[in-house]
Amino acid sequence: MIPASRTPFVIGNWKMNLSERWAVALLDDLLPAIAGAPEVDVGVAPAFPCLRAAADRIAGTPVQLGAQNAHWEDKGAFTGEVSPRMLAELGVGFVILGHSERRNIFGETDERVARKVAAVRRHAMVPVLCVGEQEGERDAGRTLDVVERQLRIGLSEIRPADGAEIVVAYEPVWAIGTGRSATPAQAQEVHRMIREQLASMFSPRLAGTTRILYGGSVTPASAPALLSLPEIDGALVGGASLDAEAFAGIVAAAR
Ligand code: PGA
Repeated sequence: MIPASRTPFVIGNWKMNLSERWAVALLDDLLPAIAGAPEVDVGVAPAFPCLRAAADRIAGTPVQLGAQNAHWEDKGAFTGEVSPRMLAELGVGFVILGHSERRNIFGETDERVARKVAAVRRHAMVPVLCVGEQEGERDAGRTLDVVERQLRIGLSEIRPADGAEIVVAYEPVWAIGTGRSATPAQAQEVHRMIREQLASMFSPRLAGTTRILYGGSVTPASAPALLSLPEIDGALVGGASLDAEAFAGIVAAAR
């Protein structure tokens, strides 16, 4: 269901980094470190082979479990893929889709991302749709066009009125893993455009309740200025999410 208010949401995208025992060890450090921030929704997205162990470790805590990708079909001859049904059965609550690494390294198109968004929703999980421009696109003044297209096509296969939640993450590609986060003004401009587009594609109500996260070199140092902006409802964190203290610092900034 769409949440009534935009509770801040901070997600750790662990990418292809932690094997099972390190994933559990990180949760052992992280859970006490974030226990004092019940007013923030926190999620972690481990690699597929660690989902079961992570689900067991966070059981009974408010931390939400996410996956980093999903196929669009429930089953079939798709060697190497993982279906949304499998993820739902593991207790996955949200799925990161259309991350720029998926788009740029694995050739994911907007059309494929759209099918994945619909598939994840079919299984009552929340899609976290990532959008964002490359550096050359920003330099050419095309940022808003690129993000508009990714959003329009990425959300084209879901029905506006089915009442389920979506999350959008704006991640400028040039800011991911570079230590060069967008400025608050740059992020605010794109976030505002995304919210306006959600209002025209769906409804002002959906736009007003959809959480739009910022991602790209978020650290405890850069988080306070970004997360204090009215249009930024949380963060999608890569590198800094692998360190319990740093991630907890970002969660604290989101309060
Ligand atoms: P970063 O990654 O925080 O390491 O820049 C963000 C992401 O890829 O989601």
